[in-house]
Amino acid sequence: MYERQEITQAQLEVQRRCCEKIKDALSDRPRFALVDTYGCQQNESDSEILRGWLMDCGYGLTSDPAQADIVVFNTCAVREHAEQRVYGNVGALTHNKAKNPDLIVAVGGCMTQQETVKEKLKNSFRVVDMVFGPHEVWKFPELLWSVMERRGRRGNKSRVIAAEPSDGVVAEGLPRQRDSEIKAWLSIMNGCDNFCTYCIVPHVRGRERSRRPEAILAEARKLAEAGVKDITLLGQNVNSYGKGLADGMDFPDLLRAVNDLPGDFVLRFMTSHPKDATEKLFRTMAECDKIAHHIHLPAQSGSSRVLKAMNRHYDREKYLDTVAMARKLLPDLVLTTDIIVGFPGETEADFEETLSLVEEVRYDAMFTFIYSPRTGTPAASMPDPVSRAEKQVWFDRLLDSANRISAEKHAAYVGKTCRVLVDGETNDPTRNLSARTKGGRLVHLTGDPALVGQFVNAEITDSSTWALFGHASE
Ligand code: SAH
Ligand code: SF4
Ligand code: F3S
Repeated sequence: MYERQEITQAQLEVQRRCCEKIKDALSDRPRFALVDTYGCQQNESDSEILRGWLMDCGYGLTSDPAQADIVVFNTCAVREHAEQRVYGNVGALTHNKAKNPDLIVAVGGCMTQQETVKEKLKNSFRVVDMVFGPHEVWKFPELLWSVMERRGRRGNKSRVIAAEPSDGVVAEGLPRQRDSEIKAWLSIMNGCDNFCTYCIVPHVRGRERSRRPEAILAEARKLAEAGVKDITLLGQNVNSYGKGLADGMDFPDLLRAVNDLPGDFVLRFMTSHPKDATEKLFRTMAECDKIAHHIHLPAQSGSSRVLKAMNRHYDREKYLDTVAMARKLLPDLVLTTDIIVGFPGETEADFEETLSLVEEVRYDAMFTFIYSPRTGTPAASMPDPVSRAEKQVWFDRLLDSANRISAEKHAAYVGKTCRVLVDGETNDPTRNLSARTKGGRLVHLTGDPALVGQFVNAEITDSSTWALFGHASE
């Protein structure tokens, strides 16, 4: 049974004192920090906290590894490929460290919560000074100070290998250096209790725990007051928000409460597990003016047999019923999904069912993955007779179908005028602005750069598989 573990003010005070000590120790010259983020928006959000801590410790931020005095990797364990990239990039710093022996290399994030990875970093990557897990982001200054202090005393034997096993903590009041003044992540919960059989996330991110509504609402209010125009509520399964809290607030209630705050912003959320997507959620989306009519509803497979083996708690029919209910209540709904191809034991017939689900639902956009075995998950020890080459053929067929449908969906916007949020500039002088529709589709626009950060009407003149194109009409 998970016991909620909240970080106390006294524990945070220790961190603040460590920040001061680090700042003092580094006061001889300017220092720079680089935080390199992999994986999902939860990690993007944690990286904002890490940058907040680093700035409180006196570092400036850089994106140039050659300029960095500390490099922090915030890693993802969800697929093999993500892990390999991290190993490659950590290894590459051996070079930088030879030139600058004072360089501190820290590896955090989901990878480090796997015992085998922790051992590998410890034994095969001497360049790494510090390993810490996602449950230790709140005490980053304390861990960093240990590295520095030991360096002073013990020369090279200064490594700090943390990433202790944990069910996870709830920490409020951490600093945060936000990446954008226009869009913001707002983490409402952490961890996952679903244990899909292929997935490492519940093993590395700990038990599901929700932040208290008053803390979330206070943060959302601050964002709106600061002029943020796009707020995304984050969780591995936002639909189960509130479980274990005494407040009796569920996710639709929370959405409505954030929607009702003063301010002109779009409200988004991700990710929704289909098993918990209710009529109340879709009604709330329809009734609240700020909530984007977009839902990311990962299907993972179109075969009920495979869904059962994945432990997803819904079958093809239930998924399709949920989509039909959502579309009835929200006729302009933008629907996106994740699909895994080549789950252990998946047959050609199962794959055909996934393809037919995709053709039937017609997603606006899809994220498609080839199954990647994760040590310690049940699926990793299931028989997996289909070759990688065969899975690649299925994957390519799925991608063709996904791309064709996205292109068709995007083409339907041509000739229409959409309200969009201009969120930045592009490198393309002919379409110099980037924007998002309320449903989250990417738009490249021609318009005045002064429009960045504003809602404008966009006339859509052209489209592709990936984006819409047009010009700002006011
Ligand atoms: N909590 C989110 C997903 C987090 S992981 C949800 O349940 O929807 C993001 C996506 O990565 C998943 O939706 C899944 O499609 C994919 N994924 C997770 N584990 C994987 C694995 N072992 N191999 C391939 N893809 C995987
Ligand atoms: Fe992984 Fe499933 Fe949890 Fe999503 S719901 S994080 S896929 S275990
Ligand atoms: Fe990856 Fe961790 Fe997110 S494993 S997908 S960064 S929760």
